[in-house]
Amino acid sequence: TKQKLWGGRFTGKTDPLMHEFNQSLRYDKRMYAVDIAGSIAYAKALTLIGILTKDEENKIVEGLKTVEKEWETGVFSIQPDDEDIHTANERRLSEIIGKLGGKLHTGRSRNDQVATDMRLWLLDEVKHVTEGLSGLIRVMVERADKEKDILLPGYTHLQRGQPIRWSHLLLSHAFSFHSDLQRLQQLIPRVSVLPLGCGALAGNPFVVDREFLRKELGFQSVAENSLYGVGDRDFIVEFLMWASLAMTHISRMAEDLIVYSTAEFGTGSSIMPQKKNPDSLELLRGKSGRVFGNMAGFLMTLKGLPSTYNKDLQEDKEPLFDAVDTVSASFKIAEGVIATMEVHAEKMRSALTMDVLATDLADYLVRKGIPFRETHHISGRAVALAESRKCQLNELTLQDFQGLNEKFAEDIHQVFDFEASVERRESIGGTSRKMVERQVLAALRAQQGN
Ligand code: ARG
Repeated sequence: TKQKLWGGRFTGKTDPLMHEFNQSLRYDKRMYAVDIAGSIAYAKALTLIGILTKDEENKIVEGLKTVEKEWETGVFSIQPDDEDIHTANERRLSEIIGKLGGKLHTGRSRNDQVATDMRLWLLDEVKHVTEGLSGLIRVMVERADKEKDILLPGYTHLQRGQPIRWSHLLLSHAFSFHSDLQRLQQLIPRVSVLPLGCGALAGNPFVVDREFLRKELGFQSVAENSLYGVGDRDFIVEFLMWASLAMTHISRMAEDLIVYSTAEFGTGSSIMPQKKNPDSLELLRGKSGRVFGNMAGFLMTLKGLPSTYNKDLQEDKEPLFDAVDTVSASFKIAEGVIATMEVHAEKMRSALTMDVLATDLADYLVRKGIPFRETHHISGRAVALAESRKCQLNELTLQDFQGLNEKFAEDIHQVFDFEASVERRESIGGTSRKMVERQVLAALRAQQGN
């Protein structure tokens, strides 16, 4: 029976299973450096309010630096009772400097400590993620700049629609990533809010100087409400939302490249073969799922939590760490894919069939004065006629065309030219060479602005 199975557990000393369940050091040890930075700043702040003498402060700071070295060099020895990074560091500090170590936590709680660590850690990671994303965009823009000559069919509803430049397609994804880059910079002020000095929940009873702490740790602002400071993880949710959207963009780009690499989309053979890359693209597409999962899962953890710190909040770490690791790796892999993939210009060109010029055919008649709604219909009939004859649109005779509308003339042949079609799209945002060049410049300028 159940009772027998659990007999003796949860009575008396902590059950080993619960000990293991509670333990977060396994993953939160990656915050060791920010935890120590927060403690050093806090020790200095304690001196300013007379809790520590300058000499005590120096000893504590030296001790903390020794602890940090131990982590750095891999010699920190984790003890069974080290519950998390905060207790582990404090335990070790006291081993090194003795009883004095016990003064460091005066007026502080692990509640304001952990919230501070998480924000500091994330701010640091945002810098790395920014670099990774910028690198990806740079490679995409460089490649787009070099390959403006290559044309391929642009698809709508997974059907060939109009001819476009390959660079135009690549840049479309670069612009999505560029807006991700902007959004990432814009969330920084909301992460850069200092919780340290909020205490367990009600505030710091020794009136620690939080402005001093803010400056020491490089935060932009101070949490104005202690309950908010220790209790909310909105900045983590915001990053997870950001990461989910960025991964959506990664995933959609991967899907485009996968689809364009299939024989089905070419003329019998693959138009953009990914020699070594199909797995990387499918993984990029697939990895987005786990990031959305991290976001949805953590939002569920937060929903309905009562105010201030609850142990549920320890569940903020694994989803955040995993999301940071996943987006960082994905940006690097995507950069590698874009830098190294082979683009087969001739195969892409041969995937262009005359039916993608149906719109241009309609536009031809518009230029002869016929309302677009009618020309659209006439063009559709021309496509159907070619289909019934089992020939390409440009293989219909002038007589065939004139049978559909008398405005068709000798100059009709001008329509059946992919390059000319692309070059006609010459207003801002279009796929003409000039407008693609403009996009490259705009993308480069945006990069510098960031
Ligand atoms: N390991 C904990 C966490 O990550 C630290 C905060 C513990 N605070 C507490 N009151 N139990 O959330």
